Amino acid sequence: MSNHEASPRPGFGPDEFSWGTATAAFQIEGDAAGRGDSIWDEQCRQPGRIADASNGVVACDHVHRYVEDVALMAELGADAYRFSISWPRVQPGGRGPLAAAGVGFYDRLVDELLGAGIQPWATLYHWDLPLELAGAAGGWTGRDVVDRFTEYALAIHSALGDRVRDWTTMNEPWCSSWLGYGSGEHAPGERNHVLAARASHHLLLAHGTAVRALRAQAPADHRLGIVLNLSNIHPAPGREDDLAVAAAARTIDGLQNRWWLDAVLTGRYPADVLELLDPSLEGVIQVDDLSVISTPIDVLGVNYYCDTFVDADGPAERTLSAAYPVPERFTSVDSGQSGTGIGWPVTPSGLTDILLRIGTDYPGAPPLAITENGSAYPDAATAPADGSMVEDPDRVAYLRSHLDALSVARQKGADVRADFAWSLIDNFEWSWGYTQRFGLVHVDFGTLARRPKRSFATYAEHIAAVRRDV
Ligand code: FCB
Repeated sequence: MSNHEASPRPGFGPDEFSWGTATAAFQIEGDAAGRGDSIWDEQCRQPGRIADASNGVVACDHVHRYVEDVALMAELGADAYRFSISWPRVQPGGRGPLAAAGVGFYDRLVDELLGAGIQPWATLYHWDLPLELAGAAGGWTGRDVVDRFTEYALAIHSALGDRVRDWTTMNEPWCSSWLGYGSGEHAPGERNHVLAARASHHLLLAHGTAVRALRAQAPADHRLGIVLNLSNIHPAPGREDDLAVAAAARTIDGLQNRWWLDAVLTGRYPADVLELLDPSLEGVIQVDDLSVISTPIDVLGVNYYCDTFVDADGPAERTLSAAYPVPERFTSVDSGQSGTGIGWPVTPSGLTDILLRIGTDYPGAPPLAITENGSAYPDAATAPADGSMVEDPDRVAYLRSHLDALSVARQKGADVRADFAWSLIDNFEWSWGYTQRFGLVHVDFGTLARRPKRSFATYAEHIAAVRRDV
């Protein structure tokens, strides 16, 4: 029996399905004075790292405007809200007792959500590692962070677990490792494949260790999971017969998808990727690590934005180059399809494919949740002066086509239990700063005023229509 089949786990009601939106702490909260520094504060201080030289000091000022933001969710008709807890807000140096003021904010947020009938889904780590755990401590490249993360997870679960039932550990550990330590596009901005590979293992080990500890502490109905960013990897159009491109696509699929899915769901790293990374991982993987990593989970969060197309010469739109230990000439993206404002292709059928693939390739996988899906388009900086909605036809089209793709996947048997649109509000988009707008609600970054976009109304209508049909 695999680790996964061994023990019963809390499930979902037969018809349970939640609709909602997602955000992340660093991208919206602001109130930097109320928390410790994270590696993203440091990343923002480094010249040239953020497209508009901005930072998360104020962001959307959500810490002071959460009541308004929860009211927007209620207006949307949301059942649930996926947010992340800022580790350096509740534990500024990454160790020791929790900071009462930081925890107080999440107390108020959770109470506000529950008061509006919205279930909180908390993510423990959405990239804002306390800065003190980076530097000499090695951040995710060292093993010590596993214990730090587990202590933090247990402490914040003790504080909020009387009201929060759904918990995920890591958000997109592929980004934390390969973009944080490989391409350097994300904090802490290292460009070193060896460090990236090591970080990838420690992120997974921290996930598994925390799940084990939380399972022992949590009431039986608490659902635990992880969030992965998955993408179907194809040869670019016209390159299907090129064996070298096919091989590169297989490697990228291994690094982005199979590495994480195999480890968490089967307790093994894929042999081809392990062989590729072997020199980097010398002495890193210890006996029992994979068994800890594959501790059963109750939900697998899938963040899906687009498929990936591997070509030899295409424009490096979603920059994978330098992220991987594969020849750079094979890591660019050229979909030949229309793209979103951030340059990512629009490939809705890929959402159906990825959801079905998990069921096919990983029998016994837990139920799925779409924990992020959305698009950036260049909306105007200010909302219409007459107070009307922001019109965003491209985002509406993206949203509709992906809602259809989700529905097709469910009809074909994918066990999906939640859909969270990325994002509730326009926010700080990491290395892109405030230049990319993913929100269903427009934010004027001069005044911080919120204004729903047409896509917000579209999603609200969809949620209401589904409820009428049930
Ligand atoms: C995902 C991140 C999220 C946001 C979207 C656009 O990779 O998890 O924070 O930046 O992309």
